[in-house]
Amino acid sequence: MVVGFSMTRSAALPDDLRDTPVPAHVAIIMDGNGRWARERGLPRVAGHREGAESVRDVVRACRQIGVRALTLFAFSAQNWQRPDDEVQALMELLGRYVIEERGEIMDNGIRLTAIGEVERLPGFVRQPLAMLMDDSAKNSEMALCLALSYGAREDLVRAVRDLAQQVVDGKRAIEQIDEQLISSALWTHELPPLDLLIRTSGELRISNFLLWELAYSELYFTDVSWPDFRRAHLFDALRAYHQRERRFGRTSSQLSDDSSKTDE
Ligand code: IPE
Ligand code: IPE
Ligand code: MG
Repeated sequence: MVVGFSMTRSAALPDDLRDTPVPAHVAIIMDGNGRWARERGLPRVAGHREGAESVRDVVRACRQIGVRALTLFAFSAQNWQRPDDEVQALMELLGRYVIEERGEIMDNGIRLTAIGEVERLPGFVRQPLAMLMDDSAKNSEMALCLALSYGAREDLVRAVRDLAQQVVDGKRAIEQIDEQLISSALWTHELPPLDLLIRTSGELRISNFLLWELAYSELYFTDVSWPDFRRAHLFDALRAYHQRERRFGRTSSQLSDDSSKTDE
């Protein structure tokens, strides 16, 4: 049976968050699966498996509370360097996730998208992914963006090459290259500006994720490992987010209350 996510936004939020604006775009570096497993004497893949449960709960929560876009770092361009059996297990979990979540994604108006070198993924991931992306393309409640074989530097290199080619071909003048054009050449071009980045498991680094998009995002780091991360931890991140004053280079007194929370 397919379980819907329907619930009013306020019912899904804890009392203290009910009247606060929800970030439009949240991204998560889902880290710490291997350490979670090791601490329990389990193989690393057990951590990845439990991490898939965290994905389910967090996607549901984000959809219920009205997040417009959720980007999940599931596999980096650099993660191909891991041992073959771990890469294989991760790909199998990904393929299974895309197949098993189809009902929930479609029933809840979620548009599935992907960023990264998806052509590098094995066919058993690429094919169900492409099909679900296609079938969910018109859904408009929330975008769920999976970063797969993703690297921000790789994306920037690709975008620079594209734009340089357009100049060489005489289709564009160098003067036309500005921030907006670069943003529109990146894989993330369809997503709203990134408001909040969460990284789990205590590492204080970005690991080649969304380097351009992070310019004015709020950063939230937690020691909780990804397999333990559930909606209650997401709400903790939202509480921290609401304590921040997003100034975008201006001074506090220049900001009106309403314009201070989104990068638009
Ligand atoms: C995150 O957990 C999942 C992926 C990077 C695919 P890790 O596998 O990096 O877990 P740790 O960081 O080694 O504990
Ligand atoms: C970043 O985590 C990539 C994902 C969460 C998919 P890593 O575990 O690969 O990053 P490093 O190696 O600690 O920087
Ligand atoms: Mg890690």
